[in-house]
Amino acid sequence: VSDTLTAPPGTRSWIRPRHLTSSSQLGRPVLEVLLDSATEFDQQSRPATLLAGRTLATIFFEPSTRTRFSFETAMYRLGGQVLTAESAAHASSVAKGESLEDSVRIIGGYADAIVLRHSEIGAADRAAAVSAVPVINAGDGAGQHPTQALLDVYTIKKELGRLDHLRVGLAGDLLHGRTVRSLAIILSQFPGTELVLISPPSLRLGEDLRMELARLGTPVRETSELGDAVAGLDVLYQTRIQAERFATRADYERLRDIYVVDAALMRRLPDHAVLMHPLPRLGEIDPEVDTDPRAAYFRQARNGVPVRMAVLHWAMSH
Ligand code: CP
Repeated sequence: VSDTLTAPPGTRSWIRPRHLTSSSQLGRPVLEVLLDSATEFDQQSRPATLLAGRTLATIFFEPSTRTRFSFETAMYRLGGQVLTAESAAHASSVAKGESLEDSVRIIGGYADAIVLRHSEIGAADRAAAVSAVPVINAGDGAGQHPTQALLDVYTIKKELGRLDHLRVGLAGDLLHGRTVRSLAIILSQFPGTELVLISPPSLRLGEDLRMELARLGTPVRETSELGDAVAGLDVLYQTRIQAERFATRADYERLRDIYVVDAALMRRLPDHAVLMHPLPRLGEIDPEVDTDPRAAYFRQARNGVPVRMAVLHWAMSH
């Protein structure tokens, strides 16, 4: 996020574009700017022409509904235009063997910013290293999903009125879940955050992130029992067991229904708390829960538009 004057090898001196590849880049001051900006866009109090004449490229090597559509909606609402490769693995020249780096160099000549989803951890950093325009990570394998984490904290603030002194339960596939990885780091920026990590032993949060949370001084409790963990929570953040990241289908099938949030489970969640999920969900939240006022996941998904308007404006007006 820092603006440096160091140029990549082979390029002229330049002002580094505002890439966003990891939530680790988002310190408190930038977070506050983005959350305030998202609130203004949410209330429609800013003009819709801020990015008129600018073009966003959305390049997706993995499927998406929420992230791609909300980024594209955000760009249109800011008065800009969108170029999209929604199945980039098949429909871009990567299918002919072109490298990600060359693709990004070329697309950066046509667009003013790139939103990239890729199956490999670190792909967004590789793209950012060669890109003359901002690269925004829309999910890199089991790595990071920083704009999802931004919309998650935006949702928590909107639902609960604060981001400090919260006990947040992160449940499900914490090993492969890029949304929980990004969210845990952002929540650690706020005083009094306590994290309860709820996962089966084989899907525990990775050691790298565990060390990062220790460095940030965030208290962490771990359990494999969802039912016992929910009583004292302010936020229950449920996630999908990620079939696409397992070595075999059998390994996935053994764990896919390990945690189900249903009406019985919701009776154990405090009245003031919220239930969130980055979506898509499979069986891990019973649809009977959808009408519970604490079920915030559809409101959460809608918040993706103002939050991504804030991110695009921040990155592209630099
Ligand atoms: N939450 C999320 O990233 O959803 P999509 O995969 O549909 O973009």
